[in-house]
Amino acid sequence: MAERTLNGEVYYPAEDIVSNSNVPDRAAVTQAAESDLAGFWNQIAEENYEWFEPWHTTLDSSEAPFFKWFVGAKTNIVHNALDRHIKTWRRNKVALIWEGEPGDRRTLTYHQLHRQVGRMASVLRAMGVRKGDRVTIYMGRVPEIVIAMLACAKLGAIHSVVYGGFSVEALHGRIEDSHSKVAITCDGAWLRGNIVPLKDIMDEALHRSPTVQNVIVVKRTGQEVHMEPGRDLWYHDLLNLPIADPYCETEVMDAEDPLFILYTSGTTGRPKAILHTHGGYMVGTSTTLRTVFDIKEDDVWWCAADPGWITGHSYIVYAPLILGATSLMYEGAPTHPFPDRWWKLVEEHGVTILYTAPTAIRGLMRFGESWPERHDLSSLRLLGSVGEPINPEAWRWYHRVIGKERAPIMDTWWQTETGNFMITPMPETPLKPGSASLAFPGVKLDVVDEEGDPVPANEEGYLVITTPWPAMMRTLFGDPDRYVSTYWERFSKDGEWIYMTGDSAKRDEDGYIWVIGRVDDVIKVSGYRLGTAEIESALVSHPTVAEAGVIGVPDELKGNIIKAYCILRQGIEPTAKLADTLREHVGYEVGPIAKPATVEFVNSLPKTRSGKIMRRVLRARALGQDEGDLSTLQPD
Ligand code: WT7
Repeated sequence: MAERTLNGEVYYPAEDIVSNSNVPDRAAVTQAAESDLAGFWNQIAEENYEWFEPWHTTLDSSEAPFFKWFVGAKTNIVHNALDRHIKTWRRNKVALIWEGEPGDRRTLTYHQLHRQVGRMASVLRAMGVRKGDRVTIYMGRVPEIVIAMLACAKLGAIHSVVYGGFSVEALHGRIEDSHSKVAITCDGAWLRGNIVPLKDIMDEALHRSPTVQNVIVVKRTGQEVHMEPGRDLWYHDLLNLPIADPYCETEVMDAEDPLFILYTSGTTGRPKAILHTHGGYMVGTSTTLRTVFDIKEDDVWWCAADPGWITGHSYIVYAPLILGATSLMYEGAPTHPFPDRWWKLVEEHGVTILYTAPTAIRGLMRFGESWPERHDLSSLRLLGSVGEPINPEAWRWYHRVIGKERAPIMDTWWQTETGNFMITPMPETPLKPGSASLAFPGVKLDVVDEEGDPVPANEEGYLVITTPWPAMMRTLFGDPDRYVSTYWERFSKDGEWIYMTGDSAKRDEDGYIWVIGRVDDVIKVSGYRLGTAEIESALVSHPTVAEAGVIGVPDELKGNIIKAYCILRQGIEPTAKLADTLREHVGYEVGPIAKPATVEFVNSLPKTRSGKIMRRVLRARALGQDEGDLSTLQPD
């Protein structure tokens, strides 16, 4: 038990959490990892997974910052997530409990999931999908998205999942950039009782670039959709063919072979394709899940994210299956048809661990305590938070109303790039609301100034990571130079590779990390990561707009909202109706989550002499703050 000597508002773990936890002593593990990083991961990798062939080098830094892990090893993440379990008693354990928004339910045991994945993989193989090929997946939260991802991985194909809340141009750009030859989608997805027309959006995206040879369409919502002859195939028809063989051999992969790419927004330009691999990612994601959320055989784990983001990739799809856990997946909105939908799900499925985002908690908090109070939430043992800093008020509500002051909250800081939790409590860690607490064992980080020197306690600086870790991204697919320049160039020095997270943070006198937010042009809206560049280019793609600049401004519910500034083309009238049209246009091109809350028409935008929009100045103006150093500002 930790000594009660920490500063500020601190929540110490309840006695039963400590005595029932299987998680090893944090200080001891951290010390072991620090004294021999490669040895630490070597032992974990040896003890917990099946490898077709062992590695000769645990960590290879010879081409840093292109770090490699478990070099020489052969495996396949799907072998560890499915194939090995069906040889044991877990064969008939429930892998996935699924509930659709309309209330329909499905469960899949490991055996059933293994067969389904085999069938989809056989179909993909019959379509000519091979190791290294890219497959774009654009679906709602239905079991088939999990099946599709695993089917690709089983064949050694690289999946590129595009979140179902993205729209035409976002989807098109990602398909084109990845050169996908097959796409998998649904006719639609249920959201708040409405249909998101995924297939229509896919058609429009493919219309803009017809590189995809085949589209597999899973029927979910049942409305009429266009099926392009020779290109589009219903999945249920394919399943009736003899090619849909549940037995499909799992491809033998190098530990360092690509598993997936996932596009995420960065500082400038187009979204970046973050690349993760079979070996290190497998080890990192499942080890962090086991250690932080203390997953036990009889747990019902619910990661309420979407599989289309890294949270879903790591902690809905891969890590829980690797651990042989039972997961819940829910298709729809938390408030549909009533604001107790989530609490009803917890009660009815006996969820023991709930992992969600602060924005969801704040959204549900608004409806008051009577909704959760209608339900028996006593099954909950641990809670989790991810995606943005959690404000202490939401933390306390989550802890008191949902966790009944018993279930500790694991506030996990990480990124698409990191693949797994990096700063996080473990069940026994004393908690401070709003702080993700301490680095995961083996992770070393720092908070530094402009020169890369550590700043004193309680001062804000750049959050950097100074050690490699197994689940780290390996590169940006198709753009290795940008990988180096975006993440490693800024702070690396004296032969030491230092990873720039893009976040600012403070470290308090107890060593607890308080992440403040992004320092680049990434905007976190309801925990979703969006880039200013994508939204700006959607705005200027409208015939009325000459130039656009967008910024994020703080919002109580969403964390941030988007504010857009537009310069109109000559002769175009700035009207409220046009502002609405432009908001809708961004929604159509990028996705509803990217819609600016406000569009303001201006005659000029603050720019540097080299023509870059100074969003910092726009932000200061919007918030009525000091505009700071304007020496690089171009005069109007
Ligand atoms: C950015 C990464 C990785 C999971 C989902 C987001 C912010 C994430 C926290 C947290 C404060 C957080 C950071 C980070 N973030 N978790 N617990 N506390 N901020 O992945 O979309 O790649 O976004 O999300 O700003 O850099 P992502």
